[in-house]
Amino acid sequence: MDKFVIKGGAALQGEIPVGGSKNSALPALAAALLTEEPVTLRRVPAVRDIRTMQRLLVDIGSKVDVDGETVRLETPAIVCPEAPYELVKTMRASSLALGPLLARCGRARVSLPGGCAIGARPINLHIFGLEQLGARINQTHGYIEAVAPEGLRGAVVHFDRITVTGTEDLMMAAVLAKGETLLRNAAREPEVADLAQLLVKMGARIEGAGTSTIKVEGVERLHGAEHTIIADRIEAGTFLIAGAITGGDVTVTGCVPEHVGALVSKLQQTGVGVTQPDATSLRVRGGGRLRSVDMTTEEYPGFATDLQAQYMALMTQAEGIAIIEETIFENRFMHAQELARMGANIRLDGKQAIVAGPRELTGAGVIASDLRASASLVLGALVARGETVIDRVYHIDRGYEKIEAKLARVGAKIQRVE
Ligand code: EPZ
Repeated sequence: MDKFVIKGGAALQGEIPVGGSKNSALPALAAALLTEEPVTLRRVPAVRDIRTMQRLLVDIGSKVDVDGETVRLETPAIVCPEAPYELVKTMRASSLALGPLLARCGRARVSLPGGCAIGARPINLHIFGLEQLGARINQTHGYIEAVAPEGLRGAVVHFDRITVTGTEDLMMAAVLAKGETLLRNAAREPEVADLAQLLVKMGARIEGAGTSTIKVEGVERLHGAEHTIIADRIEAGTFLIAGAITGGDVTVTGCVPEHVGALVSKLQQTGVGVTQPDATSLRVRGGGRLRSVDMTTEEYPGFATDLQAQYMALMTQAEGIAIIEETIFENRFMHAQELARMGANIRLDGKQAIVAGPRELTGAGVIASDLRASASLVLGALVARGETVIDRVYHIDRGYEKIEAKLARVGAKIQRVE
């Protein structure tokens, strides 16, 4: 099991390039199931979750050729419309196969994902939506068995709570349904809009992706397409905070500044200087006084829950009290205890974490629990006095490609130990 050994104290200086978005590439890969023609995706990050999804698609019947960041998929026929437990338990986004399989062949057998470190994470809204489109779904032995023998038909699906992959799953089911589908209270995340762009290139008829109401006019069939995945806004945000917490001067390149607008605004409120040198870069300069500023996670375009842990690490170094409220997941504060072991002053109270600072962090042995919590421990270690050893970095490898190489290139003293 790999570990990271990090010596804190270096102010990061220089440029960090951002890769393609994991959370956009995952649904885009699943979308290839919707046609027997080839789909080519560019800027696909080589992270563990992507490899898991590719393995799932091969088991289902896709031919997958990976050439660096370009992935070519071709699914001449669905051989096995199933997402087995052994894959799903390692990556819950496998539920993104549900919609495409039902749309393509009228059948799907997908393991219930089960909970994960950050919460129960049910997929009841995916199931509700697919039933509205005419699927018959039952749950047995930990699996969802879905059939739509007469095909899916358009319907109005009103999500009572916003779900990102729920919106994506339903959009992929609707593109081949008979008639019109309306998704209300849909997720507005950039990854949803990026998926819609790919589907439209494949011949789908979609309006309103990126807003709360998405209209899909079903078509007979989809054809192949080529698409470049958008930049990973969470990776970009993580590196901006790395520049801020180390008091450095970091330019994040190849990103979409608008997609991290809430974080940029929050950083500026804390006293961190953030400028936009050009259309695809953001420059962050730390080093000044850092003020504690409250933060509440919200669906896009609010402050992303996937940057909450990283922001908490930053607030351990800020002057005052910052109240951080996590409204999306019920158990997403695991990093707080680990940061506290490094010296942070954090008190948890239900959905809130109260961070008092500034507190000097000291290097310690810590354990990563989930993808973004791990990133927060790396950020803490970068500013901690002494050496930190982070265990179970496979969590980080799920969503960050070569994070240690990218950070080392701008001066971080970080190395991976087998
Ligand atoms: C996506 O997960 C992301 N994953 C998550 O990123 C991200 O944290 C999350 O959206 C919120 O932005 C991918 O895109 C692959 P949700 P998703 O459905 O779609 C509840 C990362 O670090 N809910 O928007 O699974 C759910 O429990 C990952 O890259 C239901 O109750 O999240 C949660 O509390 C972590 N029933 C809330 O809604 C459902 O059917 C939002 O979940 C679906 C969701």
